[in-house]
Amino acid sequence: MKMGRSHGAKWFILFMTVSLLAVCQARTIVVGGSEGWRFGFNYTDWAIQNSPFYINDKLVFKYDPPSNSSSAYSVYLLPYLWSFVDCNLSDADLLANATQGSGEGFEVVLDQWKPYYFASDGGNSYNCKDGLMKFFAVPWPHQ
Ligand SMILES: *[C@@H]1O[C@H](CO)[C@@H](O)[C@H](O)[C@H]1NC(C)=O
Ligand SMILES: *[C@@H]1O[C@H](CO)[C@@H](O)[C@H](O)[C@H]1NC(C)=O
Ligand SMILES: *[C@@H]1O[C@H](CO)[C@@H](O)[C@H](O)[C@H]1NC(C)=O
Ligand SMILES: *[C@@H]1O[C@H](CO)[C@@H](O)[C@H](O)[C@H]1NC(C)=O
Repeated sequence: MKMGRSHGAKWFILFMTVSLLAVCQARTIVVGGSEGWRFGFNYTDWAIQNSPFYINDKLVFKYDPPSNSSSAYSVYLLPYLWSFVDCNLSDADLLANATQGSGEGFEVVLDQWKPYYFASDGGNSYNCKDGLMKFFAVPWPHQ
């Protein structure tokens, strides 16, 4: 089948766009930066500083397993804004338990255009309520 010139140009533009997206999509972001995922760091502030997030950004939660000096951290995905505001984890999904944040950390790919509400538990939502260990991210499609 013969391809017209303008048809070919369209394919070229599509190809370039997809290539550029593939480059943009490679972001990997460590939650909290060098602080990692820990009690007492303001993750709401961190999320504001690190916005905007984009679709297919990869968040990495890095935290030590429980020790005498630190409580058990975890990563929950909360279903609604209200559960997030209240630190109510009763309907939340456990993404990573107390030991899954060690080493290279635990990865979450933000692959949908929706708000992602994250929090840590630590027993009765202690990490979330008193430790500021919660934030949300809304990944945007690339332009
Ligand atoms: C955390 O940061 C947010 C955004 O900067 C701010 O509004 C909030 O007061 C801070 N919380 C605490 C406990 O400092
Ligand atoms: C941690 O707790 C264990 C058992 O309770 C104890 O043997 C150990 O000495 C403690 N470590 C520190 C650094 O306090
Ligand atoms: C937490 O959420 C559940 C389910 O949405 C609800 O039944 C429960 O009353 C909430 N707990 C508190 C303390 O608000
Ligand atoms: C956390 O999950 C991993 C992988 O599923 C499992 O091997 C480990 O025992 C769990 N740790 C705790 C503290 O539940």
